[in-house]
Amino acid sequence: MARKKITVVGAGFVGSTCAQRLAELELGDIVLIDIPQTEGMPAGKALDILESGPVYGYDSKIVGATSYEPSAGSDIVVITAGIPRKPGMSRDDLLNTNAKIVKDVTEQVARTSPNSILIVVSNPLDAMCLVALKTSGFPKHRVIGMAGVLDSARMRAFIAEALNVSVENVHAMVLGGHGDTMVPLPRFSTVAGIPMLLKTGSAYYAPSASVAEMVEAIVKDKNKVLPCAAYLEGEYGIDKVFVGVPCKLGARGLVEILQLNLAVEERIELQKSASAVRELSALLK
Ligand code: LMR
Repeated sequence: MARKKITVVGAGFVGSTCAQRLAELELGDIVLIDIPQTEGMPAGKALDILESGPVYGYDSKIVGATSYEPSAGSDIVVITAGIPRKPGMSRDDLLNTNAKIVKDVTEQVARTSPNSILIVVSNPLDAMCLVALKTSGFPKHRVIGMAGVLDSARMRAFIAEALNVSVENVHAMVLGGHGDTMVPLPRFSTVAGIPMLLKTGSAYYAPSASVAEMVEAIVKDKNKVLPCAAYLEGEYGIDKVFVGVPCKLGARGLVEILQLNLAVEERIELQKSASAVRELSALLK
């Protein structure tokens, strides 16, 4: 069986670590794209990752590129391009700078890989998903945002640390927009299956691990339920906006949005978060 072709756009810390994780998991052959200030940077990073293959025992091919042609026909495209926030900035402060970058990238991706599934990572995440959806013209099941896996992983890490249990025993669910209004759901979080009653730059290890989990669910057609940013059309009483909800991911991308039976306060929090994303998205130029 031919390996899947996966493109990662943006060879900064998040993008290159993501490429490394995808190669180590042997989820496909990888193209790492960037328009670097230093000539040859994506090619150099790609070669470095390729050369770890004999040590780790993976056969994924990985190349770096400064144009989109080598990525043509990709099955999955991970968009990490954009500027990261600096200390004191909120993710929302990146809105119009990153919207332009994500729009340019999406135009190229839609031209060269028209059948791909897009996983958007750039911030402010939910608004950038909308830019990618509108620019690509792709159906909503092929445009998904990575945030819920990351926010839930962070919650799991803190719970595991506080209770001194393995992270493997802890499940957590964080919904809503990726920002100040995100909605942690302790009622849907468990420790070893037991419901929980516990009333300078950007990260890149946990975000890249989160992307890899989503790519794996798609490549292996796992129908795995993960919290992701999805375009809602009426689910949870929310319409025409991207927001984090539990999503089943499989070969076609977003297979299904799961509707949790939320308590009234949880539903209100989620709707508030969606309103914040909608207000931000309305500021897109
Ligand atoms: C994260 O949550 O790590 C990313 O959204 C990057 C950031 O600005 O915090």
